[in-house]
Amino acid sequence: MGSAETRTIVILGGYGYAGRALAPLLLAEGTARLVLAGRYRDKAHQAAEELNARFEGGRVSGARADAADPRSLTVAFDGADLVVVASNTARQVATVARSALDRGLDYLDIQYSASKLPVLRAMAGEIEQAGRCFVTEAGFHPGLPSALVRYAASRFDYLERAITASVLNPQGGLPYSGGVDELVESFRDYRPLIYRGGAWRGISFLNPYRRIHFRGGFGTRGCVPLPLAELRAMPEMVPSLQEVGFYIAGFNWFADWIVTPVVMTGVWFFPRALLRPMGRLLCWSTRFFTSPPYGIALQMDAEGVRAGARWKMELFLYHEDGYVFTAAPVAACLLQILDESSRRPGLHLMGHLVDPSRLIADMQRVGIRIESGEYAA
Ligand SMILES: NC(=O)c1ccc[n+]([C@@H]2O[C@H](COP(=O)([O-])OP(=O)(O)OC[C@H]3O[C@@H](n4cnc5c(N)ncnc54)[C@H](OP(=O)(O)O)[C@@H]3O)[C@@H](O)[C@H]2O)c1
Repeated sequence: MGSAETRTIVILGGYGYAGRALAPLLLAEGTARLVLAGRYRDKAHQAAEELNARFEGGRVSGARADAADPRSLTVAFDGADLVVVASNTARQVATVARSALDRGLDYLDIQYSASKLPVLRAMAGEIEQAGRCFVTEAGFHPGLPSALVRYAASRFDYLERAITASVLNPQGGLPYSGGVDELVESFRDYRPLIYRGGAWRGISFLNPYRRIHFRGGFGTRGCVPLPLAELRAMPEMVPSLQEVGFYIAGFNWFADWIVTPVVMTGVWFFPRALLRPMGRLLCWSTRFFTSPPYGIALQMDAEGVRAGARWKMELFLYHEDGYVFTAAPVAACLLQILDESSRRPGLHLMGHLVDPSRLIADMQRVGIRIESGEYAA
């Protein structure tokens, strides 16, 4: 790799919602040249020009690259040090990861997909042997919940409980994107498990909800557990844990009770044909019956023992824009990779690799509102 100033990062999906939120954060940190890539050259060039007009140095270029076409990836990756996969291309993970490995690039992806990890895990030995650092499950969720649990573990002698939960209440509803397609596709693999009493357990489908009180004026909401690969390793990484989980709040009664069952049934029976219509239907349903406060919140309630006494810890993170909330931890993680402080050869989940204290501080610096409290229980 070159020096931090001369690193070149390809963002696959660089002009999508997540890519567009990430690029300015990386440019503002002044560490890298960027190549924004996607299947349409014109869109990539236009997005690059817009950023070059905002940030000095002409550090952004556009390129055509299709995650399904290894030859186009080889061209786009030429001379680059790292690829950020911010495209909804979990199905093409093998092609993208193989191209990155063959061209000697480090790799980071942000996709939420059950099918992606086994493919990457099968390549883990090769990645390590090649001395490359591959980071998967980066972003808000996946990404932050395990980093927050590790942060809590560093503040307790014995961390016993760490419940993370999120509410998505963007003003105007969820925007439709390729990311929503991946979310809807993941409904087919929904197998909620929670770790409680020292074991992973299923939940009752008749009553899957847990009432969680959110800070920041979001109130008490019914939440369902969302299985995250990053949390599965937490009981081994923090053996004192008795309970750990990630929960997500519902949108509104219409989206949760009427539309979501329709969407789940639709993608179960017709996964290809109905994916997009069901994604659009879900987004449409989130426009209704919403009320302030708007924005995206993630919080953690942790409990355990410190210096022989029982302690509680609360952490609340907020941003009005979900894509900035996705991009901020990615940018903060990349800073630790680029300066080599957290860069290790092999395959890593973002939340397991990063220095969580620095990640939180850097996210705050780029605009995520973070409030925390610790007190005797
Ligand atoms: N970890 C997190 O917290 C988090 C949060 C939000 C989203 N995500 C993930 O982020 C990804 C992007 O979501 P998004 O909402 O930003 O979607 P989006 O706005 O639709 O952007 C997707 C981008 O990927 C590009 N793309 C699609 N197919 C491609 C292909 N075959 N080859 C190259 N580029 C391709 C698209 O451009 P073209 O169609 O023009 O090629 C577009 O630029 C999804 O995987 C989603 O799951 C993660």
